Amino acid sequence: MTDATSAPARPPLLSVRGLSMRFGGLLAVDGITFDVAAQEVFAIIGPNGAGKTTVFNCISGFYKPSAGAIALQGRSIAGHSSHRVANHGVVRTFQNVRLFKTMTVLENLLVAQHRQHRPPPLSGLFDTRRYRRSEELKIHHALEWLDVTGLREFANREAGNLAYGHQRRLEIARCMITRPRLLMLDEPAAGLNPQEKKDLQHFIDQLRREHGVTVLLIEHDMGLVMGASERILVMEYGRPIAIGTPHAIRHDERVIKAYLGEA
Ligand SMILES: Nc1ncnc2c1ncn2[C@@H]1O[C@H](COP(=O)(O)OP(=O)(O)OP(=O)(O)O)[C@@H](O)[C@H]1O
Ligand SMILES: [Mg+2]
Repeated sequence: MTDATSAPARPPLLSVRGLSMRFGGLLAVDGITFDVAAQEVFAIIGPNGAGKTTVFNCISGFYKPSAGAIALQGRSIAGHSSHRVANHGVVRTFQNVRLFKTMTVLENLLVAQHRQHRPPPLSGLFDTRRYRRSEELKIHHALEWLDVTGLREFANREAGNLAYGHQRRLEIARCMITRPRLLMLDEPAAGLNPQEKKDLQHFIDQLRREHGVTVLLIEHDMGLVMGASERILVMEYGRPIAIGTPHAIRHDERVIKAYLGEA
């Protein structure tokens, strides 16, 4: 296995140690260990059923791991509810787009902010200045993110009627508007055309550089994985088979045999 010490010298934001997840007789994740440095783009790749999404589900609190430790800046989040994990600044997208499809694009970004600007109870009833200010702030942030994502012209369109690539972008905006520390993307390029994939790669890079976010990425598109990531973890049957830079992974014989193919 490639040495995990190729990790960047920056302190880890996320650290995962010996993570395992069992479903009955199936050990879907079997002893996964990795660190993700602050502002790193770290990818997890592997064949279908390798356990990638299960790792995401454990980190984001959708599953309680059978074993192992998960820490965010040294504080354990293993076994916390998804709600608590989100409050720590860990947000994710899903393999299938999950937007409020009958709400407008703008409304999707407004509801995403309910944890950030929570006005005092009943203040809306009396329409206090504080309540109005909080609503104005939400709209302001939503419009900012529509500009960043290039979706402003679609603000009042139903999210379900957007082109697929735009829906994927809106999902990322909906995560980013909560100002996360860790953004987890589960196959964000699935269903995108080559140009949209290129745009997505630039977008991920922009989020990291300009918004300081750390990105954990599951992706099958090798062009995107190799181009966007600083390091890559390769899984097979729940187990880690390699971890390293794109260059090291591309030349790792086990990875080529298990996943990349002879070409
Ligand atoms: N809730 C569950 N109950 C039972 N088995 C599950 C559950 N979730 C996942 N699995 C199984 O765990 C294994 C890993 O699944 P997982 O979805 O993590 O794979 P993946 O690497 O994300 O695959 P893909 O690339 O197809 O998305 C699979 O065999 C899957 O059937
Ligand atoms: Mg998956």
